[in-house]
Amino acid sequence: MAVRCLITAGPTREFFDPVRFISNPSSGKMGYALAAAARSAGWTVDLVSGPVSLPEPAGVMLYPVVTAEEMSRQTDALFGPCDVLLMCAAVSDWRPASRQPSKLKKDGRGMTVELEPVPDILTALSARRRPDQVLVGFAAETEDVEANARAKLDRKGVDLVAANSVAGVEGAFGSEENTVTLVGREGFRRQLGPASKAEVARLLVAEVAARLAKR
Ligand code: C5P
Repeated sequence: MAVRCLITAGPTREFFDPVRFISNPSSGKMGYALAAAARSAGWTVDLVSGPVSLPEPAGVMLYPVVTAEEMSRQTDALFGPCDVLLMCAAVSDWRPASRQPSKLKKDGRGMTVELEPVPDILTALSARRRPDQVLVGFAAETEDVEANARAKLDRKGVDLVAANSVAGVEGAFGSEENTVTLVGREGFRRQLGPASKAEVARLLVAEVAARLAKR
């Protein structure tokens, strides 16, 4: 069966002037590992990536983006024909309410940047999903990892949530190793790892492939 997979990876950057932005420490490694694993499974892969310093995975269509707004537009354009969505990107939850056209000058005083919420890309996509698509959300939590991931299943309208603990310095951001708790409907729970991100990605793609085969 020909499978088309849309993957998002990396952080987004939300600017308040031409050279300053808020972001997060996502390295993109998990999303890129997923792209490689999906490719190895024989899937066609569209990878929408925020700014990362990783080599382009072979055999995938890479769509570089910077802001959540750009990621939203790009994923929106690619979602229709995809069978699988792996929404691994660490999309910024807030963005500056305005962006100054020229670089702000420092004047020795503090300043306040007003933030507004970023519309949730995954929730918008799942609202127009087909039942035969498999949608996977990701969750980086510092506490109550599984309970928070379960709450996200319904809130985001997805089939699976892959939850990482990012508590402490041993967390998932930037590291080579990962442990993911995969939660799904009807109490489904499976732990992937601890293992390399490549191995965790392989296991996750295999789980999604098994679900696709049943549809
Ligand atoms: O609610 P939370 O940000 O913890 O959910 C994380 C999941 O939602 C990830 O799959 C992430 O890619 C996605 N997300 C999104 N749009 C946002 C924020 C998060 O699609 N603005």
